[in-house]
Amino acid sequence: MDGEPHDVPISSREHAQSLDAQDPLSHLKEQFLIPSKGQLKAESLQAASRDSASADGHDSENSIYLVYLCGNSLGPQPKLVATRLQQHLNTWSSQGVFGHFKALNQSPLPTWLDADAKASESIAPIVGAHPDEVAVMQTLTANLHFLMSAFYKPDITKRHKIILETKAFPSDHFVVETQIRHHNLNPETSMITISPPTPETPLTTDHIISILDANANDTALLLLPGIQFYTGQFLNIPLITAHARSLGIFTLWDLAHAVGNVPLQLHDWDVDAAVWCTYKYLNSGPGTIGGLFVHSRHAESKVNRLGGWWGSSKSTRFAMDNSYSPIPGAAGFQLSNPSILDITALNASLEVFAMAGGMQPLRAKSLKLTAYLESLLRASQAFKNHLFKILTPSDPEQRGAQLSLQLVPGLLHVVMRELVLRSVVVDERQPDVVRVAPAPLFNSFEDCWVFVDAFAQAIEIAVKAKENGDDGKKQGIEGGELEMTS
Ligand SMILES: Cc1ncc(COP(=O)(O)O)c(C=O)c1O
Repeated sequence: MDGEPHDVPISSREHAQSLDAQDPLSHLKEQFLIPSKGQLKAESLQAASRDSASADGHDSENSIYLVYLCGNSLGPQPKLVATRLQQHLNTWSSQGVFGHFKALNQSPLPTWLDADAKASESIAPIVGAHPDEVAVMQTLTANLHFLMSAFYKPDITKRHKIILETKAFPSDHFVVETQIRHHNLNPETSMITISPPTPETPLTTDHIISILDANANDTALLLLPGIQFYTGQFLNIPLITAHARSLGIFTLWDLAHAVGNVPLQLHDWDVDAAVWCTYKYLNSGPGTIGGLFVHSRHAESKVNRLGGWWGSSKSTRFAMDNSYSPIPGAAGFQLSNPSILDITALNASLEVFAMAGGMQPLRAKSLKLTAYLESLLRASQAFKNHLFKILTPSDPEQRGAQLSLQLVPGLLHVVMRELVLRSVVVDERQPDVVRVAPAPLFNSFEDCWVFVDAFAQAIEIAVKAKENGDDGKKQGIEGGELEMTS
């Protein structure tokens, strides 16, 4: 790369640091509270608190920050969240019920009546939608049910099947199964699952299309993930959507692992509907409010849905006249007044996305980070010795930030323990997969380097332990106990 000292080997930590020095987004890491090693060891809330002088005597480790490559599971806390939440609490405590509609001067916060619309405006560019195609509401699984209650109207003599992947996230599978039963149908005849050739092989677009074609006449709905949670594969949303729609199949996408990770163009791709959560790459906090997309072509539809007062016309919402008049667009799928605590956290996190300049610069960095991580992994001895393989497609267009690494059997527990000992946080999927996600908002090239270095050491230790009959299961990290002794 230009401007780099020529004597620095590409595999060195110095090289990673020089890549960070050229990264225009590197300053954004400062916007996040990344846990320290001392905090993670702390046993009490007081000791774990950032302003505590001592984390249970682990003072020296309070300045060692974790290499947090786990944003695919739960994003770290943006500093702005505490600021905005405190401002919200001040508004609530000082204004009481007037906070619903009274805008305070110099406040960055919308009135509570407008908070959902403001959040939709901020999130629309992240998913490539018009603001009125987006509603910020409920949670992912609930939103799947609400959308299906509106758009899945099976008729056993015509269209009744739902197609999803065999290895869909369990919640999605449960939604489909229970929706089918809810309509007094049988999943054995109304649910079609798509299996890859082997459990670890990514799905191909051709294979998905062949299943659609084979079930074209009686399928009502297709539910697929934008990014598959286990393999990290980014499916070809526009192509699959276009094909399904040409067959008269309603397309619904689970974007849990795609939103805030890869650029999306839901409107232009003609997607019918989509759902997401905000606690992964959107960094809004565990279980925070989710979102949904409904294409504008369904905006005026008189579709029968499960309704609530918040989805009914804003002008008559407080008239209490029992006339349900859904707002055109995605907002018409809302039910309850939303949690302003949640929305405040989400909006704070979206401010950091705005600082980054949106998804395009983030994707540009993400492509480099993940390619760099992959190149280090492929160069490692453990990879050459076939001790792990990379499940995620190598084609950058077919993946987001995450790489899923499948270890040979019997290594996972020790590897995870050893990574934590080295202050590296990734997540595991039983039986053998480690998921690593360098998120461009807060991860660096050096984080990738540290991970690969620690991973190599962890594998070496795990191989020796396995030879001695120890698979690490007895050592207590299974129940989430993170033993850090060094
Ligand atoms: C792909 C996918 N779908 C669905 C869910 C369920 O989300 P929620 O608990 O917010 O309904 C998750 C949660 O991690 C997920 O990863």
